Amino acid sequence: MEQALRSDVARGLSRMPKEVPPKWFYDERGSELFEEITRLDEYYPTRRERAILAEHGEDIARFSGAVTLMELGAGSGDKTRILLDALIDVGTLRAYVPVDVSRGFLLDSAAKIAADYPELRIHAVAADHDRHLALLPDGERRLIAFLGSTIGNMTPEERGRFLGGLRGIMDPDDSLLLGADLVKDRSRLVRAYDDARGVTAAFNLNLLSVLNRGLGADFDPGKFRHVAVWDDVHERIEMRLRSACDQTVVVRDLGLKIPFAAGEEMRTEISSKFRRPAVEQELAAAGLELARWWVDSDGDYAVCLARVA
Ligand code: AVJ
Repeated sequence: MEQALRSDVARGLSRMPKEVPPKWFYDERGSELFEEITRLDEYYPTRRERAILAEHGEDIARFSGAVTLMELGAGSGDKTRILLDALIDVGTLRAYVPVDVSRGFLLDSAAKIAADYPELRIHAVAADHDRHLALLPDGERRLIAFLGSTIGNMTPEERGRFLGGLRGIMDPDDSLLLGADLVKDRSRLVRAYDDARGVTAAFNLNLLSVLNRGLGADFDPGKFRHVAVWDDVHERIEMRLRSACDQTVVVRDLGLKIPFAAGEEMRTEISSKFRRPAVEQELAAAGLELARWWVDSDGDYAVCLARVA
């Protein structure tokens, strides 16, 4: 993990414009801040997704007939429980396989699920679903869930590779459950990533503390500002950290001195927004067939099911 952080940051900070991949947001503080984001009035995706899962859980369970629920980026657990309950009601589920990079977080939530669902076999896997897809455990009739619109963090090329990789590990009776935030009014999107209380700003700036701790860097979070912009061409939100002044940051463990000009922006996240035809097309390009598509009543968010084509 430390090696991955080193190479990601060395590569990202020597690019122009500079960037750091969003997976490094989630230290303990970052995970707490993200939980807080999911409860903000402005941040609708989590609530919309939960509503869709609650409404269509039985359809999902019947369509997939899942014996194993494998969850990539296993979140805090309430959406998981909605799915588990629906799958148990329909009667097929035997095993739950949560996969997450954050080992401590994973073990905590897996232990809680194990306590509440004694009838399930639980196999927690600490892995980076991006790099270790091929190493994930096999299982009978898997429902592979990739929720939260985490797929929005990937560029189209990365999505192509990821979906192709998923297709590669899927058997004909497996299915994929994917959550995707939809394109909508620009001002609502920007507010969702630049909330009034500044929780998202704190989440973004916390990345600098992750770099300070992980790489012996000396970023001063007080000298950077949170920025969220809508990119109309790529239909995605970009989060950036804007340098408030001319400054040089030392990254001790990389032996680097990194200059930032006043106003210079470093990209920390893309959050792509989707439309149905493009999702269908990207799935098809990966050898997957869209089978179900559910949208919440406000048309904000979609959850879909796909099978091997
Ligand atoms: C967890 C990647 C889906 O892009 O909406 C929330 C992360 N960043 N607010 C998103 C996030 C800022 C979130 N994902």
